[in-house]
Amino acid sequence: MTTKSVGFIGGGRVTRILLGGWRRADCLPRDIAVCDPDPVARGRLEQDFGTAVTTSADPVPASRMDVVVLAVHPPILEAALGSIRPELRSDTVVLSLAPKVAMSRMASALGGFPRLARAIPNAPSLVGAGYNPVAFGSGLGEVERRAVVDLLAPLGDCPEVPEEDLEAYAVVSAMGPTYLWFQLAALRDLGVDFGLSPEAAVRATARMARGSAGILFDGSLSEAEVMDLVPVRPLAVHEEGILGAYRSALPAMYEKLAGKQLAAATA
Ligand SMILES: NC(=O)c1ccc[n+]([C@@H]2O[C@H](COP(=O)([O-])OP(=O)(O)OC[C@H]3O[C@@H](n4cnc5c(N)ncnc54)[C@H](OP(=O)(O)O)[C@@H]3O)[C@@H](O)[C@H]2O)c1
Repeated sequence: MTTKSVGFIGGGRVTRILLGGWRRADCLPRDIAVCDPDPVARGRLEQDFGTAVTTSADPVPASRMDVVVLAVHPPILEAALGSIRPELRSDTVVLSLAPKVAMSRMASALGGFPRLARAIPNAPSLVGAGYNPVAFGSGLGEVERRAVVDLLAPLGDCPEVPEEDLEAYAVVSAMGPTYLWFQLAALRDLGVDFGLSPEAAVRATARMARGSAGILFDGSLSEAEVMDLVPVRPLAVHEEGILGAYRSALPAMYEKLAGKQLAAATA
């Protein structure tokens, strides 16, 4: 199965991320239809993607594509499924990007439609550096699974994962950039204040962030050894506060998405 056409239900941020990533990789599907009730969202897509994308407030054109991507928030996902249900082709694959709503619930809202997948993309997909875990329903065969992976692969890594892990990925890899971006931007700005050119400050900050993740996670040193490599830690007195924010806000977000309580020791 080669995916020639993709329909999006929801034309907001994640849709722009996927479309932008495909365009950058020069692999935009031939037919793309986006349904969004918001004229501003539709106008933005039309401006950004021109004739490569057709937009509508009507879900019907998007529902008839080879792959129908659900790019709406969890509270309206089931209503969105209801809106595509009458138009789905029997050979379509429905791919949800929303956390929280399991494929079992999606199948119920679609009257038992079995060809389902879920993925949790992240924003670096826009530049081909995404981390986009995907889970497949039992009603999808090898050919259709490969077609979904082929669609996601130009955007970055797309490991197949158990469906029950997707909410963890939503908090770690999908929302993760928001924990880091503001800090990296602040460090870049300080670099400029300290006299670096904007280009030099960007290069130093970006390389530092990539290298720091590399050395922490590549396994050549223990975590304690890595942490001991730099003796001066100007933010040391603030670390407990920052960790406190992680340990309160992120487990709460995970519990909300996963619909389950974490054991007290991990919170
Ligand atoms: N952004 C990311 O990086 C990211 C990453 C992974 C997963 N996701 C998931 O992707 C989903 C969408 O997120 P987003 O970031 O794209 O949100 P968003 O920017 O708010 O876009 C959602 C769009 O869906 C529209 N919409 C609402 N009801 C609709 C309906 N019945 N049919 C069609 N469109 C409808 C919204 O219009 P209104 O504004 O008028 O309501 C809005 O334009 C969420 O489930 C999110 O968790 C997002």
